[in-house]
Amino acid sequence: MWFNSASLDSLRLVRPNSFSGSPVLRSTMTTMPNLDLQAAWTYHNATKHSALSIRTNPHFLDWANQPLSFNIYPKLEPLTLPREVRESGVAALSAIAETIHPNNAVPDLNSISQLLYFSAGITRRRTYPGSQLYFRAAACTGALYEIELYFTCGSLAGLEAGLYHFAPADFGLRRLRTGDHRGVLVEATAAEPSIAHAPLIVICTGTYWRNAWKYQARTYRHFGWDNGTLLANLLAMSTALDLPAKIVCGFVDAEVNRLLDLDTQREVGFSLVAIGHVAEPPPSAPTEIPPLRLETVPLSRKEVDYPAMREFHAASSLLSPEEVAAWRGETPIAIIKGPAGKVVPLEPPEPAEVPHDPIERVILRRGSTRQFAREPITFAQLSTLLDRTIRGVPADFLDPFGARLNQLYLIVHAVEGLCPGAYFFHRERRALELLKEGDFRSQAGYLGLEQDLPADASVAVFLLADLQAILERFGNRGYRSVQLEAGVIGGKLYLGAYALHLGATGLTFYDDEVVRFFSPHAAGKSTIFLVALGKSAKRRAG
Ligand SMILES: Cc1cc2nc3c(=O)[nH]c(=O)nc-3n(C[C@H](O)[C@H](O)[C@H](O)COP(=O)(O)O)c2cc1C
Repeated sequence: MWFNSASLDSLRLVRPNSFSGSPVLRSTMTTMPNLDLQAAWTYHNATKHSALSIRTNPHFLDWANQPLSFNIYPKLEPLTLPREVRESGVAALSAIAETIHPNNAVPDLNSISQLLYFSAGITRRRTYPGSQLYFRAAACTGALYEIELYFTCGSLAGLEAGLYHFAPADFGLRRLRTGDHRGVLVEATAAEPSIAHAPLIVICTGTYWRNAWKYQARTYRHFGWDNGTLLANLLAMSTALDLPAKIVCGFVDAEVNRLLDLDTQREVGFSLVAIGHVAEPPPSAPTEIPPLRLETVPLSRKEVDYPAMREFHAASSLLSPEEVAAWRGETPIAIIKGPAGKVVPLEPPEPAEVPHDPIERVILRRGSTRQFAREPITFAQLSTLLDRTIRGVPADFLDPFGARLNQLYLIVHAVEGLCPGAYFFHRERRALELLKEGDFRSQAGYLGLEQDLPADASVAVFLLADLQAILERFGNRGYRSVQLEAGVIGGKLYLGAYALHLGATGLTFYDDEVVRFFSPHAAGKSTIFLVALGKSAKRRAG
């Protein structure tokens, strides 16, 4: 159950069932597709996994047609980024927990290089017969890396004003437009304050085919997850560099896509991140944004289209600055039922007692755990992980700061001092409520798409949300936001685990089975994300 604060009136959102009879609302839905909530439910329900859907899906991986994992602009000269970067010295467990609020800090070319490398750079290479796989700083479904990074900036130390594309393959920038184009994003976001004062604005896009090659129409969820893990790194690095950063999901889609001149059948803007703060707003947007018509290397011989994603993207698009301004802020407040079961307060150790490994080293050693050791972690470690990852994500849809859309449910297999069972995490109380006691290893494995990882981990953390309340407040765009927030929290859990010398992996899941497992507490919610935490078996062997 959620309490909705005044937002229904301002957006004139009603439950889908009540749309049907009203000609006025029907015409509003035509002009503002974001309000037709049926689009989100249709996409969500059609992309659920179940034992039946997995067993009856004839899809196979066409290796001969595997997409490239980079956007390549062959005709543009690279501008190589500085590779010698100094370590910030900021502990990862602080960097993931803290947020820098506006402080007149401006990035230079070195800090841009650090931000990009530690969020989307190539950190590991693995050679297979006939091919090489490039792993990146943040976890990504299928290692397919469908999120591309672009940014626009004013004139900065070491970098001219422009619109740039980040190319991880040669660790370079390609300048797509010269001159300061931040004004376009100020207009597109209806002058969102962090954007209006940002010296640097990162634009994250999703390329459909690169991920849909494996995951088909479920890829649109992955945009949120994979963009989110990347942003967990970007936010942590911004904190380490003392730069304020804020995620912005509310923007006029067509304006952002036009600035990048995207072929929107194939690639679309998904989120923005304002970085740094200057008092002076940027110059106004140029009156004309000419098309770029830049050549890019085809990702594959042929691409398969999954229209459900493009349709949902259109249905969650915001069409005007007025619509963006009405969309922004005021997160619905979840009414959490008081604990009915045994309550176990977190016991995070004193800051001096937790590892202080710098964020850069933790990102470099992060990787998804391929096998867990079935060994216990300590309650102090679990407490640290939860305490450090849920302190608030700076985002335009999380207002006031500290609001959230997702709630955490845990299956605890092996945590010293905590009886195995299913738990709900009461964030405000900083406590776990025992929902049911028992050894649920085999159930966790089943819920995680019948994989060993969630069964062998010490804890499986599920993120669930009251989707209906979120959609009522934010329209279909709320679906993008809830997936993105989950990805950020999942990314922080990854970094927190590796900071504690533990392992982690994101996982996919049987949507409705997860809700059933945690019901009656979770009844009516939707499953958004899963991450497993524990000790890596490889580490033990080594
Ligand atoms: C949201 C998410 C879901 C994932 N789901 C699975 C999964 O179901 N099974 C699995 O083995 N790995 C899963 N992974 C791990 C990815 O395969 C892994 O991140 C990718 O191969 C890149 O490797 P790295 O994380 O070691 O850098 C998932 C990762 C993310 C971020």
